[in-house]
Amino acid sequence: MGKNKRVNDSTIKAPALEQLYSRHSSKWRRFAADVLPMHVAEMDFEIAQPISTLITRMVGESDLGYLGPVPEVAEAFESFAQERWNWKIDPSQLKLATDVGLATVEYLRANLRSGERVIVNSPVYSGFYEWLKELGVEPLDVALLHTDAGWRLDLAGIESAYQAGHLHLLLCNPHNPVGRAFDRDELTALAALSNRYGATVISDEIHAPLTFAEFVPYLSCGDAATETGVVITSSSKSWNLAGLKAAFLLTQSETMAAKVARLPPALHWRTSILGAFAMAEAYNAGVEWLDATVKTLDANRKHLAAELERLLPEVAYELPEAGYLAWLDLRGTTLTAARILEEAKVSLVPGPDMGGETYAGFARLNFGTSPEIITHGLERIAKLSR
Ligand SMILES: Cc1ncc(COP(=O)(O)O)c(C=O)c1O
Repeated sequence: MGKNKRVNDSTIKAPALEQLYSRHSSKWRRFAADVLPMHVAEMDFEIAQPISTLITRMVGESDLGYLGPVPEVAEAFESFAQERWNWKIDPSQLKLATDVGLATVEYLRANLRSGERVIVNSPVYSGFYEWLKELGVEPLDVALLHTDAGWRLDLAGIESAYQAGHLHLLLCNPHNPVGRAFDRDELTALAALSNRYGATVISDEIHAPLTFAEFVPYLSCGDAATETGVVITSSSKSWNLAGLKAAFLLTQSETMAAKVARLPPALHWRTSILGAFAMAEAYNAGVEWLDATVKTLDANRKHLAAELERLLPEVAYELPEAGYLAWLDLRGTTLTAARILEEAKVSLVPGPDMGGETYAGFARLNFGTSPEIITHGLERIAKLSR
């Protein structure tokens, strides 16, 4: 059995709340200490031991200079992708960048034609809107379809956008906040469509290692996908390393490599040395931890469903297929994220941040924590009149 096979059977624990409140990250500093933060996408779990050991060693050895050549990331991701997703990458086409946001902004800055809008599929990660704002580019929303079979891409809507000359789709796979991991048929159809119009799919796959069933990388969907796709990802979400600042762009064709080659070489230099080596270590030696984390999140997503049923039965929620984010439908109540923050002192991401006022009746909750903290948050909310 390869080193990246799912072998671990244990679950993983989050520290107690008192300890979490002493953390320095945005999650624990944005609000006053009477607020339970369940908004930003970082998990409460302690990081994987091999990563912690590596970082501690590098700090201890004052090994904190600029980032030079680091083939370790491509080598580690090559073996991770092969063993976990049966996906053969071309390691020579992997380019490091500070984070997924910066890589996406720089990709679009270098490749977007003037006047072009960028297609997004709402409800979607609020960062997408912020990145486009930074570029002065208008999003073009082709909302996800909510079908009896779950969330699906609106391929006809995407085709209309391509026909109108908007030839970049910022795909979120797995999807934040609805937790959909798009399937091979859907992605293959998207690739064929994109290839037909000469469009590009920028596939943000940052949540991919946390998929509960099968994850399909866009670039594993055949020649049409490799001709049209660039994957932008990082170990930061799945191994909880967001503050370390390292990510990468990956292509698998000459066409797409040429487009990435237009990005400034400084992207590499602006990546953190700790982040890059921690990322290599995550893909290499963080798989046992990852498996335990996926198992824990699987239990948490079900715990959340059971606790919602018990405490807030009017709130609708569908189990996500990946990640640690829950898209809560509050429309059967008078609750909103603003009221929940104000009165229950629980911070959620307001639905409108993910695509505008259409989503006023929704909020996103982070369940990457202990079952006790999930219950505690819901108990606070359940005290409100609704
Ligand atoms: C889909 C998605 N992409 C990107 C990011 C941010 O990534 P980075 O910090 O590497 O820019 C997030 C953070 O929540 C996310 O959910």
